[in-house]
Amino acid sequence: MMQNNVPKNIVILISGGGSNMAAIVRAAQQENWHQRYGACVAAVVSNKADAAGLAFARQQGIATEVLDHKAFGTREAFDAALADAIDHYQPALVVLAGFMRILTPGFVARYAGRLVNIHPSLLPAFTGLNTHQRAIDAGCKVAGVTVHQVTAELDVGPILDQAVVPVLPGDTADTLAARVLTQEHIIYPRAVRALLPLL
Ligand code: GAR
Repeated sequence: MMQNNVPKNIVILISGGGSNMAAIVRAAQQENWHQRYGACVAAVVSNKADAAGLAFARQQGIATEVLDHKAFGTREAFDAALADAIDHYQPALVVLAGFMRILTPGFVARYAGRLVNIHPSLLPAFTGLNTHQRAIDAGCKVAGVTVHQVTAELDVGPILDQAVVPVLPGDTADTLAARVLTQEHIIYPRAVRALLPLL
């Protein structure tokens, strides 16, 4: 049951397909996060106008915003405009879901303790890009995904949840990514749900 009448708005940032965002939206609907936690997905923000996830969000009646990072001269200018767009929704939680931009320390500090990310590796292994190919190249027998609090350093920050999958003989980056993604859709809604009573 919700503790008070202050809505716990969730703002989700995407850059592409938005399947993790969709998994969180569906969990919020199916598990009635509004009634249980006073929480709702208030907006989806993308740095790419053609991000496929925007259509899903619109179909769900969720507000969407597009902020093209290429329209800004500096990372700081983009992040300031991004923060303005996010703050319009007075978020209790900002969720990075395949948001492929490095954030400035100022942006991260603004949302300290209420900014989470999903990264497709078993952190602290394989921060950065191309995680699946790097796991295959390293001969890893398992791979996985991590949900973590965001701190100023990229892909470093307190771990909230993880899931492990096997790396199978003949795996390509794509087959491994698909196996990991099915786990992402389980652990990201679970990690967000676990935070809601604490916000
Ligand atoms: C997911 O695999 C997510 O873990 C990854 O991008 C994909 C987004 O998919 N994130 C990163 O690589 C962050 N560095 P989605 O748009 O379908 O949720």
